Amino acid sequence: MNAGVLLAPEDVNRSTWQGSTTLRWFAEYEGWSDDGERAATESLPLGVHGQPILDIGVGAGRTTPLLRALSTDYRAIDFAPAMVDLCHRKYPDVDVRHGDARDLSQFSNNSMGLVAFSWNGIDAVGDTDRAAIFGEVFRVLRPGGVFFFSTHNKLGPGHRETPWHFGLRDLKHPKSTARRLASLPLDVRNRRRLRPLNHDAGEWSMMNAGAHHFGIVIHYTTLLHAVAEVETAGFQPEPEVYASSNGRRLAVDDETSDVWWFHLLAVKAALRCDP
Ligand SMILES: C[S@@+](CC[C@H](N)C(=O)[O-])C[C@H]1O[C@@H](n2cnc3c(N)ncnc32)[C@H](O)[C@@H]1O
Repeated sequence: MNAGVLLAPEDVNRSTWQGSTTLRWFAEYEGWSDDGERAATESLPLGVHGQPILDIGVGAGRTTPLLRALSTDYRAIDFAPAMVDLCHRKYPDVDVRHGDARDLSQFSNNSMGLVAFSWNGIDAVGDTDRAAIFGEVFRVLRPGGVFFFSTHNKLGPGHRETPWHFGLRDLKHPKSTARRLASLPLDVRNRRRLRPLNHDAGEWSMMNAGAHHFGIVIHYTTLLHAVAEVETAGFQPEPEVYASSNGRRLAVDDETSDVWWFHLLAVKAALRCDP
Protein backbone atom coordinates (compact mmCIF):
# COMPACT_ATOMS: atom_id res chain seq x y z
CA MET A 1 0.00 0.00 0.00
CA ASN A 2 1.21 3.53 -0.72
CA ALA A 3 2.10 4.92 2.73
CA GLY A 4 0.93 8.41 1.71
CA VAL A 5 -2.63 7.40 0.78
CA LEU A 6 -4.65 6.01 3.62
CA LEU A 7 -7.60 3.82 2.69
CA ALA A 8 -10.95 3.64 4.50
CA PRO A 9 -10.98 1.12 7.40
CA GLU A 10 -13.02 -1.44 5.44
CA ASP A 11 -10.48 -1.39 2.59
CA VAL A 12 -7.57 -1.76 5.02
CA ASN A 13 -9.34 -4.69 6.70
CA ARG A 14 -10.29 -6.40 3.43
CA SER A 15 -6.72 -6.09 2.20
CA THR A 16 -5.32 -7.56 5.45
CA TRP A 17 -7.84 -10.41 5.47
CA GLN A 18 -6.77 -11.33 1.94
CA GLY A 19 -3.09 -11.69 2.89
CA SER A 20 -1.80 -15.24 2.39
CA THR A 21 -0.97 -15.93 6.07
CA THR A 22 -4.35 -14.65 7.23
CA LEU A 23 -6.20 -16.69 4.60
CA ARG A 24 -4.34 -19.83 5.69
CA TRP A 25 -5.20 -19.13 9.32
CA PHE A 26 -8.91 -18.76 8.54
CA ALA A 27 -8.89 -21.84 6.30
CA GLU A 28 -7.55 -23.99 9.13
CA TYR A 29 -9.77 -22.69 11.93
CA GLU A 30 -12.72 -24.97 12.74
CA GLY A 31 -15.42 -25.04 15.43
CA TRP A 32 -16.76 -22.32 17.72
CA SER A 33 -14.84 -19.06 17.97
CA ASP A 34 -15.51 -18.91 21.73
CA ASP A 35 -17.93 -19.99 24.48
CA GLY A 36 -20.24 -17.02 23.80
CA GLU A 37 -20.77 -18.08 20.19
CA ARG A 38 -21.72 -21.58 21.28
CA ALA A 39 -24.07 -20.29 24.03
CA ALA A 40 -25.78 -17.84 21.64
CA THR A 41 -26.21 -20.53 18.96
CA GLU A 42 -27.74 -22.90 21.49
CA SER A 43 -30.17 -20.14 22.53
CA LEU A 44 -31.50 -19.48 19.03
CA PRO A 45 -35.29 -19.89 19.01
CA LEU A 46 -36.44 -23.25 17.65
CA GLY A 47 -38.49 -21.31 15.10
CA VAL A 48 -35.37 -20.48 13.06
CA HIS A 49 -34.46 -24.16 12.60
CA GLY A 50 -35.12 -25.26 9.03
CA GLN A 51 -35.56 -21.63 7.87
CA PRO A 52 -33.45 -19.94 5.15
CA ILE A 53 -30.07 -18.77 6.50
CA LEU A 54 -27.84 -16.00 5.13
CA ASP A 55 -24.25 -16.17 6.47
CA ILE A 56 -22.63 -12.75 5.92
CA GLY A 57 -18.84 -12.43 6.01
CA VAL A 58 -18.50 -16.21 5.83
CA GLY A 59 -14.72 -16.03 5.45
CA ALA A 60 -13.26 -19.48 4.77
CA GLY A 61 -16.46 -21.17 5.94
CA ARG A 62 -15.80 -21.84 9.63
CA THR A 63 -19.49 -21.25 10.39
CA THR A 64 -20.79 -23.21 7.40
CA PRO A 65 -21.10 -26.63 9.15
CA LEU A 66 -22.25 -24.97 12.40
CA LEU A 67 -25.12 -23.17 10.69
CA ARG A 68 -25.99 -25.90 8.21
CA ALA A 69 -26.70 -28.05 11.28
CA LEU A 70 -29.66 -25.69 11.86
CA SER A 71 -30.92 -25.60 8.27
CA THR A 72 -29.77 -26.93 4.92
CA ASP A 73 -31.39 -23.88 3.27
CA TYR A 74 -28.12 -21.97 3.56
CA ARG A 75 -26.26 -19.39 1.48
CA ALA A 76 -23.27 -17.16 2.23
CA ILE A 77 -21.58 -13.97 1.06
CA ASP A 78 -18.30 -12.18 1.70
CA PHE A 79 -16.91 -8.90 0.38
CA ALA A 80 -13.37 -10.34 0.05
CA PRO A 81 -13.07 -12.32 -3.22
CA ALA A 82 -10.22 -14.47 -1.84
CA MET A 83 -12.45 -15.55 1.07
CA VAL A 84 -15.27 -16.45 -1.34
CA ASP A 85 -12.81 -18.62 -3.31
CA LEU A 86 -11.56 -20.33 -0.14
CA CYS A 87 -15.05 -21.09 1.11
CA HIS A 88 -16.09 -22.34 -2.30
CA ARG A 89 -13.09 -24.70 -2.45
CA LYS A 90 -13.83 -26.04 1.03
CA TYR A 91 -17.59 -26.38 0.51
CA PRO A 92 -18.21 -26.73 -3.26
CA ASP A 93 -21.88 -27.56 -2.72
CA VAL A 94 -22.60 -24.27 -0.93
CA ASP A 95 -24.07 -21.19 -2.63
CA VAL A 96 -21.34 -18.71 -1.67
CA ARG A 97 -21.04 -15.43 -3.55
CA HIS A 98 -19.33 -12.10 -3.50
CA GLY A 99 -21.53 -9.61 -1.67
CA ASP A 100 -21.40 -6.67 0.69
CA ALA A 101 -23.52 -6.47 3.85
CA ARG A 102 -24.15 -2.77 3.17
CA ASP A 103 -26.13 -3.65 0.05
CA LEU A 104 -28.12 -6.90 0.24
CA SER A 105 -30.21 -6.06 -2.82
CA GLN A 106 -29.54 -9.55 -4.24
CA PHE A 107 -31.85 -10.85 -1.46
CA SER A 108 -35.60 -10.12 -1.22
CA ASN A 109 -37.48 -8.51 1.64
CA ASN A 110 -38.64 -10.89 4.38
CA SER A 111 -36.78 -13.86 2.88
CA MET A 112 -34.45 -15.12 5.68
CA GLY A 113 -35.16 -16.80 9.01
CA LEU A 114 -31.63 -16.25 10.29
CA VAL A 115 -28.90 -13.81 9.25
CA ALA A 116 -25.48 -14.40 10.81
CA PHE A 117 -22.45 -12.08 10.77
CA SER A 118 -19.94 -13.90 12.96
CA TRP A 119 -16.60 -13.17 14.53
CA ASN A 120 -17.10 -9.42 14.55
CA GLY A 121 -17.24 -9.10 10.76
CA ILE A 122 -19.64 -6.16 11.16
CA ASP A 123 -16.84 -4.25 12.93
CA ALA A 124 -14.96 -3.90 9.64
CA VAL A 125 -16.95 -0.83 8.64
CA GLY A 126 -17.48 2.61 10.18
CA ASP A 127 -20.49 3.78 12.16
CA THR A 128 -22.64 5.05 9.26
CA ASP A 129 -22.11 1.92 7.15
CA ARG A 130 -22.89 -0.16 10.20
CA ALA A 131 -26.33 1.47 10.46
CA ALA A 132 -26.86 0.60 6.76
CA ILE A 133 -26.05 -3.04 7.55
CA PHE A 134 -28.59 -3.18 10.38
CA GLY A 135 -31.18 -1.70 8.00
CA GLU A 136 -30.43 -4.20 5.22
CA VAL A 137 -30.44 -7.19 7.57
CA PHE A 138 -33.75 -6.05 9.07
CA ARG A 139 -35.23 -5.77 5.56
CA VAL A 140 -34.24 -9.29 4.43
CA LEU A 141 -35.32 -11.01 7.67
CA ARG A 142 -38.76 -12.54 7.93
CA PRO A 143 -40.93 -11.41 10.85
CA GLY A 144 -39.75 -13.53 13.80
CA GLY A 145 -36.31 -13.87 12.17
CA VAL A 146 -33.05 -13.36 14.06
CA PHE A 147 -29.87 -11.38 13.38
CA PHE A 148 -27.00 -13.20 15.13
CA PHE A 149 -23.79 -11.18 15.18
CA SER A 150 -20.83 -10.33 17.34
CA THR A 151 -19.13 -7.01 17.98
CA HIS A 152 -16.10 -5.76 19.95
CA ASN A 153 -16.48 -4.37 23.45
CA LYS A 154 -15.13 -0.84 23.87
CA LEU A 155 -14.81 -1.46 27.61
CA GLY A 156 -13.06 -4.82 27.14
CA PRO A 157 -9.42 -5.97 27.17
CA GLY A 158 -8.95 -5.47 23.41
CA HIS A 159 -9.62 -1.76 23.16
CA ARG A 160 -6.40 0.25 22.72
CA GLU A 161 -4.13 -2.81 22.49
CA THR A 162 -0.52 -1.89 21.80
CA PRO A 163 2.31 -3.95 20.30
CA TRP A 164 4.37 -3.50 23.47
CA HIS A 165 1.69 -4.74 25.86
CA PHE A 166 2.14 -8.50 26.30
CA GLY A 167 -0.89 -10.41 27.63
CA LEU A 168 -0.95 -13.68 29.57
CA ARG A 169 -1.39 -15.51 26.26
CA ASP A 170 1.95 -14.14 25.00
CA LEU A 171 3.83 -14.90 28.21
CA LYS A 172 2.42 -18.41 28.78
CA HIS A 173 5.14 -20.15 26.79
CA PRO A 174 8.66 -19.06 25.75
CA LYS A 175 7.74 -19.83 22.12
CA SER A 176 4.73 -17.47 22.22
CA THR A 177 6.86 -14.73 23.78
CA ALA A 178 9.55 -15.22 21.12
CA ARG A 179 6.91 -15.02 18.36
CA ARG A 180 5.53 -11.75 19.78
CA LEU A 181 9.03 -10.28 20.04
CA ALA A 182 9.89 -11.32 16.47
CA SER A 183 6.78 -9.63 15.10
CA LEU A 184 7.24 -6.42 17.10
CA PRO A 185 8.80 -4.38 14.23
CA LEU A 186 5.92 -5.27 11.87
CA ASP A 187 3.33 -4.64 14.59
CA VAL A 188 4.78 -1.21 15.35
CA ARG A 189 5.01 -0.31 11.64
CA ASN A 190 1.35 -1.22 11.07
CA ARG A 191 0.24 0.62 14.19
CA ARG A 192 2.00 3.80 13.04
CA ARG A 193 0.64 3.50 9.50
CA LEU A 194 -2.97 3.06 10.62
CA ARG A 195 -3.02 5.47 13.58
CA PRO A 196 -4.66 8.29 11.53
CA LEU A 197 -7.77 6.10 11.17
CA ASN A 198 -8.32 5.91 14.93
CA HIS A 199 -11.36 7.82 16.13
CA ASP A 200 -13.00 7.80 19.56
CA ALA A 201 -16.62 8.99 19.66
CA GLY A 202 -17.31 8.10 23.31
CA GLU A 203 -19.85 5.26 23.15
CA TRP A 204 -18.07 3.79 20.13
CA SER A 205 -14.72 4.05 18.40
CA MET A 206 -12.76 2.93 15.35
CA MET A 207 -9.38 1.67 16.58
CA ASN A 208 -6.38 -0.19 15.32
CA ALA A 209 -6.58 -3.71 16.82
CA GLY A 210 -3.87 -6.26 17.62
CA ALA A 211 -5.16 -9.04 15.34
CA HIS A 212 -3.13 -9.81 12.21
CA HIS A 213 -0.11 -7.86 13.45
CA PHE A 214 -2.08 -4.68 14.11
CA GLY A 215 -3.24 -4.83 10.51
CA ILE A 216 -6.93 -3.96 11.02
CA VAL A 217 -8.97 -0.96 12.17
CA ILE A 218 -12.26 -1.94 13.75
CA HIS A 219 -15.39 -0.67 15.43
CA TYR A 220 -15.74 -1.01 19.20
CA THR A 221 -18.92 -0.30 21.11
CA THR A 222 -20.21 -0.27 24.67
CA LEU A 223 -22.93 -2.82 25.31
CA LEU A 224 -25.42 -0.03 25.95
CA HIS A 225 -24.69 1.49 22.53
CA ALA A 226 -24.84 -1.89 20.74
CA VAL A 227 -28.28 -2.54 22.19
CA ALA A 228 -29.40 0.97 21.18
CA GLU A 229 -28.13 0.34 17.63
CA VAL A 230 -30.30 -2.73 17.11
CA GLU A 231 -33.33 -1.14 18.73
CA THR A 232 -32.94 1.95 16.50
CA ALA A 233 -32.86 -0.33 13.44
CA GLY A 234 -36.30 -1.68 14.45
CA PHE A 235 -35.38 -4.93 16.19
CA GLN A 236 -37.22 -5.92 19.38
CA PRO A 237 -35.99 -4.24 22.58
CA GLU A 238 -33.59 -6.07 24.89
CA PRO A 239 -31.74 -8.44 22.54
CA GLU A 240 -30.10 -11.46 24.18
CA VAL A 241 -26.38 -10.88 24.68
CA TYR A 242 -23.62 -13.41 25.50
CA ALA A 243 -20.04 -12.79 26.61
CA SER A 244 -17.22 -14.11 24.42
CA SER A 245 -15.07 -14.75 27.49
CA ASN A 246 -17.22 -17.44 29.15
CA GLY A 247 -20.60 -17.55 27.43
CA ARG A 248 -22.54 -15.94 30.29
CA ARG A 249 -25.75 -14.06 29.49
CA LEU A 250 -25.24 -10.33 29.93
CA ALA A 251 -27.62 -7.62 31.08
CA VAL A 252 -27.10 -4.19 29.58
CA ASP A 253 -25.71 -2.69 32.81
CA ASP A 254 -23.35 -5.61 33.66
CA GLU A 255 -19.63 -5.11 34.23
CA THR A 256 -17.90 -6.22 31.01
CA SER A 257 -14.19 -5.47 31.41
CA ASP A 258 -13.28 -9.18 30.86
CA VAL A 259 -15.40 -9.45 27.68
CA TRP A 260 -13.53 -9.11 24.38
CA TRP A 261 -16.71 -9.08 22.32
CA PHE A 262 -20.47 -9.57 22.58
CA HIS A 263 -22.73 -12.00 20.72
CA LEU A 264 -26.19 -10.54 20.12
CA LEU A 265 -29.44 -12.20 19.05
CA ALA A 266 -31.62 -9.40 17.66
CA VAL A 267 -35.17 -10.42 16.75
CA LYS A 268 -37.40 -8.85 14.11
CA ALA A 269 -40.83 -8.87 15.74
CA ALA A 270 -43.26 -11.49 14.47
CA LEU A 271 -46.44 -10.20 12.85
CA ARG A 272 -49.34 -9.83 15.28
CA CYS A 273 -52.40 -11.88 14.48
CA ASP A 274 -55.21 -9.77 15.94
CA PRO A 275 -58.47 -11.66 16.34
C1 LIG B 1 -13.05 -11.88 11.13
S1 LIG B 1 -13.54 -12.54 9.59
C2 LIG B 1 -14.64 -13.85 10.11
C3 LIG B 1 -14.89 -14.90 9.05
C4 LIG B 1 -15.92 -15.96 9.42
N1 LIG B 1 -17.24 -15.38 9.64
C5 LIG B 1 -15.50 -16.71 10.66
O1 LIG B 1 -16.14 -16.53 11.69
O2 LIG B 1 -14.53 -17.48 10.58
C6 LIG B 1 -14.66 -11.32 8.98
C7 LIG B 1 -15.16 -11.61 7.59
O3 LIG B 1 -16.19 -10.66 7.29
C8 LIG B 1 -16.02 -10.22 5.96
N2 LIG B 1 -16.66 -8.89 5.86
C9 LIG B 1 -16.35 -7.77 6.54
N3 LIG B 1 -17.15 -6.75 6.18
C10 LIG B 1 -17.99 -7.23 5.25
C11 LIG B 1 -19.06 -6.66 4.52
N4 LIG B 1 -19.39 -5.36 4.62
N5 LIG B 1 -19.76 -7.44 3.68
C12 LIG B 1 -19.42 -8.77 3.53
N6 LIG B 1 -18.40 -9.35 4.18
C13 LIG B 1 -17.70 -8.59 5.04
C14 LIG B 1 -14.51 -10.21 5.77
O4 LIG B 1 -14.11 -10.24 4.42
C15 LIG B 1 -14.09 -11.46 6.53
O5 LIG B 1 -14.10 -12.61 5.72
